[in-house]
Amino acid sequence: MNWTRYLLAAAVVGGLLLYLPACEQPAQSSKKLSRRAKNKLLIDSLAHFGALPQEVKSPRDNPLTPEKIKLGKLLFFDPILSGNRDVACASCHHPAFGFAENLELSVGVNGKGLGSSRHFRQPNDIPIVKRNAPTVVNAAYNGIDWLKRYEPEEAPMFWDVRVKSLEKQALEPIKALEEMRGRRYSQAEIIPEVVSRLNSIPAYLQLFEAAFGSHPAIREEHLAKALAAYQRSLIAPNSRFDRYMRGDKSAISLSEKEGFKQFIESGCGNCHNGPMFSDYQLHVLGVPENPLLEQPDMGPDSSYAFRTPTLRNLRFTAPYMHNGSLNTLQRVLEFYEDIAGGKMRNPNLSRDQLDPLVDAIELDVSKMAPIISFLNTLNDESVDRSVPESVPSGLPVGGNIQ
Ligand code: HEC
Ligand code: HEC
Repeated sequence: MNWTRYLLAAAVVGGLLLYLPACEQPAQSSKKLSRRAKNKLLIDSLAHFGALPQEVKSPRDNPLTPEKIKLGKLLFFDPILSGNRDVACASCHHPAFGFAENLELSVGVNGKGLGSSRHFRQPNDIPIVKRNAPTVVNAAYNGIDWLKRYEPEEAPMFWDVRVKSLEKQALEPIKALEEMRGRRYSQAEIIPEVVSRLNSIPAYLQLFEAAFGSHPAIREEHLAKALAAYQRSLIAPNSRFDRYMRGDKSAISLSEKEGFKQFIESGCGNCHNGPMFSDYQLHVLGVPENPLLEQPDMGPDSSYAFRTPTLRNLRFTAPYMHNGSLNTLQRVLEFYEDIAGGKMRNPNLSRDQLDPLVDAIELDVSKMAPIISFLNTLNDESVDRSVPESVPSGLPVGGNIQ
């Protein structure tokens, strides 16, 4: 009896073993084929890549001038803009780290140090910022499409695209409690406070008058415009990939070209396209949560969707993702391999909530190294990374970063 059962079981298993490879093989390769066909289709219609324009557009009411850039740069490094005079824009967007921060989540008010050594001073009652600071390099091109069209007044900003234009973005960190404002001033008080501080510094009065002329030269609108102008000067449109796209066929190597092909065939270009390698749309990928946060960051409308980031200058901007949860490009690619294979890395989401374009991702381990070497053709160090020697307030340059 037992033997009959065993034989029966063996026959069934054996049959399955014979049957499975026979039927799974074609099923799998037809799935692969259809993914590849799908990617080709999408790429023909969607994914176009190109060099960045070498000139940047400014809003009509804020043309770029050397005076504004000079002023904006000093403001960017001056902690006078923060409630407790301890944080500057550069505390989180420092040229030493590609104008990003080399820290998974930002530490603003009451922070000390720079990059991965930045931490809160004790005692501390300021929450950690819930997101990773993206680079401001090339943010001037945000929103650019594959036809190289963009409107600087409409440029989408932040991981959830909640603000449009560098001008509108510039005052947000000053008003945010944990980034720059702190607890001494309310949201309504902080900008007038900063404007009055700047007005009491003669060097700033001169610089604002040189940049804007009109009286009163130091006001909210001009503060935002100067910060935006400096950031608009931080462009890096001459990576090896740009040179390749402009016709220098030797600017990237054979294996990097192969990596570009793999990048497209793997379906990456369905979202990372256009000259910035971003469609600037929100997508749900199910990135792992960062354990440093008590509450999960659910993104806009609790959708868990985040904006496709640029893939330029990744060499300088680790860690990656909206919450800095993936340390290296290798980890990012392993994450994509997981979600493409149906493995969820965020328990708050179910498979059917992921972006439909995730289904088109086809990635295996052998493609990772070529894709990473291709991504390295998108780095360009030629941006002005100099730090002012001093700022007009006399406060420590870059804030409390020593
Ligand atoms: C405490 C760290 C911190 C400080 C200080 C800070 N930022 Fe940021 N910055 C961030 C983080 C984090 C984000 C992303 C926030 C989000 O997407 O919700 C960001 C996003 C940005 C972006 C959007 C880039 C893009 O592509 O979407 C710009 C531009 C920017 N910051 C400029 C500035 C300026 C100008 C200042 C100073 C007035 C400043 N930041 C101060 C951390 C900081
Ligand atoms: C469905 C659209 C989509 C596809 C397809 C896609 N990405 Fe992304 N990518 C995103 C979004 C959205 C993020 C940010 C996710 C987040 O932080 O929650 C991102 C983040 C990244 C980052 C991190 C960048 C940074 O600065 O933090 C890298 C690197 C990256 N993707 C590379 C790739 C590669 C390589 C592929 C192909 C294997 C790929 N992506 C496919 C949308 C996509």
